[in-house]
Amino acid sequence: MKILLTGAAGQLGQALRQQVPEGIELIATSRSGDPATGLLPLDLADAAACRAAVLEHRPDWVLNGGAYTAVDRAESEPELALAVNGGAPRAFAGALADTGGRLLQVSTDFVFNGQQGSPYRPEQSRDPLGAYGRTKAAGEEAVEQVLGGSSRGVILRTSWVMGPVGKNFALTMLRLHRERDQIGVLEDQVGCPTSTATLAAACWRAIAVMDTPSGLPAVLHWSDAGAASWYDVAVAVGELGVELGLLQQPAPVNPLTTAEYPLPAQRPSYSLLECSASRQALDLPALHWRQALRQLLEAVA
Ligand SMILES: NC(=O)c1ccc[n+]([C@@H]2O[C@H](COP(=O)([O-])OP(=O)(O)OC[C@H]3O[C@@H](n4cnc5c(N)ncnc54)[C@H](OP(=O)(O)O)[C@@H]3O)[C@@H](O)[C@H]2O)c1
Repeated sequence: MKILLTGAAGQLGQALRQQVPEGIELIATSRSGDPATGLLPLDLADAAACRAAVLEHRPDWVLNGGAYTAVDRAESEPELALAVNGGAPRAFAGALADTGGRLLQVSTDFVFNGQQGSPYRPEQSRDPLGAYGRTKAAGEEAVEQVLGGSSRGVILRTSWVMGPVGKNFALTMLRLHRERDQIGVLEDQVGCPTSTATLAAACWRAIAVMDTPSGLPAVLHWSDAGAASWYDVAVAVGELGVELGLLQQPAPVNPLTTAEYPLPAQRPSYSLLECSASRQALDLPALHWRQALRQLLEAVA
């Protein structure tokens, strides 16, 4: 089976490349490519290039793991964010409608407004609060409009992605525990961390399961299990960091409110994803976020 992967240099992309199942021919792409690691260049802001890549390689799947992920910066460059997060999935979906291939579109909890106070189910309506969420919602809509009803477009939403490489909250907190006398972290935004390792496994499983008689729902939710505030995760990074010998001692973590720490983008205050149906469809076990975080930090150690 041939898979065209985007965002191969990102944190999810790297985990996906570490877990490529047997029998997969992977065409891995990143924004500028990298001959040393075999990455081909593909600019997701260039819809014509996205279409051309599908027509050239004729993959069985496009695994669209690349995205404009700078949540705050998206507020000041929404056009670029929309081109990457909305335009690329639309271009892939259109080309795949012609070639007969499938699309796995990775999406986000930030398509929800976070106001209901209970976990979001896959079929619930989108209502993003910020530019990043709006552009990711536009990507979902494009997949549904172009490939909906054909079982050829699958949306996999995830949340708070963290891995042993790249730019993410866990690695930032590890650094701040080392560098600072104390850290202030938001306590009033609740969601669930997701490790790139478990997320990559879910993506590969989705591709495998689609070809079985049970197939897949059109929208999947995948995060690690449990719930946490950013404050909880920061405290856990300190504790686990000491346990694993990555830190001599944790910095004290002070809980902050969103009002005390304003950022350009408004974020959902409660964006847990209800994952039980997806875990069942993918036949994958739940791993508590703290165990997944431990494994992530073990990979850093
Ligand atoms: N990170 C999270 O907390 C989170 C939460 C929920 C959902 N997600 C979703 O999960 C997926 C994977 O995210 P991630 O955490 O792995 O993000 P990431 O580490 O930021 O990786 C995204 C990759 O996309 C690439 N990219 C951005 N613009 C591009 C362009 N114009 N052309 C080609 N490549 C481009 C980035 O390259 P550059 O580094 O060169 O920009 C980066 O390598 C995304 O769909 C994201 O929306 C992420």
